[in-house]
Amino acid sequence: MELKMNSLLIHGGVDGDETTGAVNVPVYQTSTYKQNGLGETRGWEYSRTGNPTRDALEKLIATLEHGKYGLAFASGLAAINTVLSLFKSGDRLIVSDNIYGGTFRILDNVFKNFGIGYIIVDTSDTVLVEKKLNEDKEGKIKAVYIESPANPLLTVTDIEAVAKNVKASGRLTIVDNTFMTPYFQRPLDLGADIVVHSGTKYLGGHSDVVSGFIVVNDEEISRHLYYLQNAIGGVLGPWDSFLMIRGIKTLGVRMDRHQENAEKLARWLTDSGYVEKVYYPGLESDPGYETQKKQADGPGAMVSFVLKKEYDYRKFFKSLRLITLAESLGGVESLVCHPASMTHAAIPKDIRDAVGITDELIRFSVGIEDINDLKADLEQAILASRM
Ligand SMILES: Cc1ncc(COP(=O)(O)O)c(C=O)c1O
Repeated sequence: MELKMNSLLIHGGVDGDETTGAVNVPVYQTSTYKQNGLGETRGWEYSRTGNPTRDALEKLIATLEHGKYGLAFASGLAAINTVLSLFKSGDRLIVSDNIYGGTFRILDNVFKNFGIGYIIVDTSDTVLVEKKLNEDKEGKIKAVYIESPANPLLTVTDIEAVAKNVKASGRLTIVDNTFMTPYFQRPLDLGADIVVHSGTKYLGGHSDVVSGFIVVNDEEISRHLYYLQNAIGGVLGPWDSFLMIRGIKTLGVRMDRHQENAEKLARWLTDSGYVEKVYYPGLESDPGYETQKKQADGPGAMVSFVLKKEYDYRKFFKSLRLITLAESLGGVESLVCHPASMTHAAIPKDIRDAVGITDELIRFSVGIEDINDLKADLEQAILASRM
């Protein structure tokens, strides 16, 4: 029986425990496994290499992303580290011009030291990406790394169009699908080769687990990634794997409610007269609106905005009562952050300003609280921040 997304979230991967009939996959809290004789294992040797609870989660994320192979990590950055370890000294990657600050940091401060370079490109401009690929006569560019919608400006890249050009030239397309989750967008179906996630966000959904994922379809790439996962060792523990499976069961109902609230708030902010600009690909006026509609099942629940000059963003953050000022996103509770000093502080100011990640930008991870309470809190904080 071919199950739909909302059933797969609950029954996908490994559905419960075959041995006891427990409806949940047990937590195999073990680091090692008994061997009956030399080379005689029951399929498990050591929990960095493989653990049944993690394995169930890895099968689940692969199923949801319409991929064949899933890998779970101790954080989104551990997953990204493993993907970047596929490359060699001299290789280059094209990266979207607004990406999570930690992704920029690992490229700029870690992989650059190993001779792996990056070129920042506005990947929402498909023609520009093609031009950069064509200019690479020496074949140094090995991959294009996309976030769509990107963190924090929600810029939308046409994944299918970029992946088509990238594949034609024998390179890889990597998509960070954190903001969308497979509930709204499945990049492998759009032609991407590798999907990465910070599972810490919507997939976990309760701001209580740090985790990351990679999903691929190609067997050779999967073998290389499994090798790297074991060799580097940034794996997700059994208990956190269990919590992730539990969180994913409610992904659908959470995402629907997150998005319903976000759409209402984005429209309310736009019409409020308090804001200079709202970034949200669910608004018809947003440059990414059509592409988002084409490639995803919804615009998601991240909204960024800039208040009008008469409001002080510092006072706004301090005046919030219900909505929490904190790093991260995707939990059931509403969180706001100041990308310039928090999530994107690792990006030099000149690059931030050029891209539009200005000091005034506010990023809002819209939670699933009552919409009227959220509006009331936003409004009172904006009014309190008037200079
Ligand atoms: C889009 C995106 N990718 C990756 C990461 C890194 O994930 P983690 O914090 O789980 O290491 C984040 C974290 O905020 C993110 O927002």
